[in-house]
Amino acid sequence: MKQGKLSIALIGAGRAGMIHARNFAGSVPNATVGGVADPVEEAAASAAAELGGCRYETDYTKLLADDSIDAVVIATPTKYHCEITLAAAKAGKHVLCEKPMAMNVEECEQMERAVKEYGIKLQMAFMRRFDAGFCAAKEAILQGRIGEVVMVRSNTRGPSIPKPWMYDISKSNGPLAEVNSHDIDSVRWFCESEFYSVHAIAGNYRCPDAKSEFPDFYDNVVMIGEMANGRQGMIDGAQGVRYGYDARTEILGTHGCIFLGRRNENEMVLATSDMNQQIEFVNSWKYLFQDAYLAEDRSFVECILEDSDPQVTGFDGKMVVAAVDAGNRSIRERRIVLL
Ligand SMILES: NC(=O)c1ccc[n+]([C@@H]2O[C@H](COP(=O)([O-])OP(=O)(O)OC[C@H]3O[C@@H](n4cnc5c(N)ncnc54)[C@H](O)[C@@H]3O)[C@@H](O)[C@H]2O)c1
Repeated sequence: MKQGKLSIALIGAGRAGMIHARNFAGSVPNATVGGVADPVEEAAASAAAELGGCRYETDYTKLLADDSIDAVVIATPTKYHCEITLAAAKAGKHVLCEKPMAMNVEECEQMERAVKEYGIKLQMAFMRRFDAGFCAAKEAILQGRIGEVVMVRSNTRGPSIPKPWMYDISKSNGPLAEVNSHDIDSVRWFCESEFYSVHAIAGNYRCPDAKSEFPDFYDNVVMIGEMANGRQGMIDGAQGVRYGYDARTEILGTHGCIFLGRRNENEMVLATSDMNQQIEFVNSWKYLFQDAYLAEDRSFVECILEDSDPQVTGFDGKMVVAAVDAGNRSIRERRIVLL
C-alpha cells in the first residue's frame, strides 16, 4: 500500500472503466490509480494522462506483476473477465469486476475458486445496490413498510444501438446479459431469493441490418420468473429505444408498493402555455447512477482496508449469470426453464 492508500489499476479504459478510475483518482478516500492497461495504446495513454500521469501498458499482465498495485478494476468486454480475474487473483490483487461476471456459470465458478484459493476480495459491480434510492427501498422492505414482497418488476431500456459484436447471441449472451444483469440482480436482492424458473420472449424490432445474418439476435426482451421463495420477478430490456435511458423498478408488497427510478437528470418539469408538460429524459446510465458508482467504489476500498466481505459478491454475479443463461435458453427453446 502506498502511503496508506490503496493503489488500484484499471484494466479496460472504456466507458465503464473510466467512471471507476476517475472516482479512484479523485473522489475515493484512501485510493489512488496506480496504472492503466488497454490493448489500444492510445486509449491507455490518454486515460493515464487524464488520471494524473500514472503508468500505462497494453498488456495487463505487466500491471499484475507490479508489487505496488493492490487491486484492479476489470472493465474489459465480458469475455475477458474470467481470464483476467484468475490472473489477478494469482497475483494477489483484489478485484472489482464489472457486470456481467463472466460468459457462463462455469467461468464464474472458476473465479469463485480463485478468490478462495488466493484469499483476495472480489466485488461485483452492481452499482444499483449502492444507489441511495435502491438502498432506501431495501431498508423500507426490511422495516416491513410494504408488508411482504410479492413482485419485483424492473426494466432497463437504453438509447444506444447495439454494437455488431452483440449480434451473435451465442458469443455475447445478448441484452439479457449486457443490459438486464442489473435488473436480474435487483429482483434477487429485493425478493431475497434466487430464480427458480424463467420464461422469456424476445425479438429484433430495431436492428434490421442484423436480421438475415443473426436471426437469433434480439433487441427487446421480456422475462418473467418465479423465485425459489414463491415471489415473482418481471424484467424487460430494450436497446436502441431512442427516447432516453429508462431504468425503473417497482416492488409490490402485500401492503404497499415502492417506485424506484428517475427518468430525468434534473428534477425539473416544464409546463408551458400550450398545455404541455415536458420532462427531459436522461440519456445515459453514466449520469443516472453517478453517485451509485462512487458509493460502490468507496465500498470496494473500505472492504479491502477493513478486511470485511464485499457487499456484492462473486456468488451474486454467478446467480445473475445463471438466470441470464436460463433466460436465453427459454428464448431459444420457447419454453419455461427451471434453474
Ligand atoms: N455497471 C454498468 O452500468 C456498466 C455500464 C457499461 C458497461 N458495463 C460493463 O463493463 C464492461 C466494459 O464495457 P464498456 O461499455 O466500458 O466497453 P468499452 O468498449 O467502452 O471499453 C472496453 C475497453 O476494454 C479494452 N479491452 C479489450 N480487451 C482488453 C484486454 N484484454 N485487456 C485490457 N483491456 C481490454 C478495450 O480496448 C476498451 O477500451 C462490460 O463487461 C460491460 O458489460 C457495465
